[in-house]
Amino acid sequence: MDGPSGSGKSSASRGVARALGLRYLDTGAMYRAITWWLLRQGVDPADPAAVAGRAAEPVLDVATDPDAPGIRVDGVDVSAEIRTQEVTAAVSAVSAVPEVRARLVAEQRDVIGAGDIVVEGRDIGTVVAPAAAVKIYLTASPEARALRRTAELSGTTTVEAQRAAMARRDTLDSTRKADPLVMAADAVELDTTELNLEEVISEVLALVKERT
Ligand code: DC
Repeated sequence: MDGPSGSGKSSASRGVARALGLRYLDTGAMYRAITWWLLRQGVDPADPAAVAGRAAEPVLDVATDPDAPGIRVDGVDVSAEIRTQEVTAAVSAVSAVPEVRARLVAEQRDVIGAGDIVVEGRDIGTVVAPAAAVKIYLTASPEARALRRTAELSGTTTVEAQRAAMARRDTLDSTRKADPLVMAADAVELDTTELNLEEVISEVLALVKERT
């Protein structure tokens, strides 16, 4: 399941994994975890050579239970720390570095293994798992996405600030050279602007049933 932030990917993919008894992988959390570690090491996220030089160092351990997702870096649980504004502002630059992507795509393929998993990200249908049985590309209007993200961050930001931050991140994620955010040719696009979470999940489940 691919799509921009605020499209409802995380809640929908966890809900679908739960409903089908599948594992769940949040690949964005892996890019965030490396970004968190680089910031802690004092590496400038805007310096691609510096990022590439250190990207292999941190050991990541990502949980795949949809009821208890989380991520550890060098044994430390950073599930909350990776959601800070500081990490969010830096993650697009880090995820544009080819060495970071090569490392994480390989680890994601290892976790995916033989399948039976719902994976969310930006390049899952195009790069990480091009043979996936079902590919979904979630979208939503910029207003809906900004409203959702603002509600998630409860009171720490404004809708306008979120809309601007998301537009900036979308541009970076969609225009980078390495594996940009783009809909796979064989993905089904689902616009969630007018749908609540239950409706999104049941649309996806219907699609899974039809395709598998
Ligand atoms: O889904 P998210 O907002 O947690 O993702 C954080 C960033 O990680 C996002 O701005 C782009 C990057 N990302 C990526 O490049 N490829 C993925 N498969 C997942 C996330």
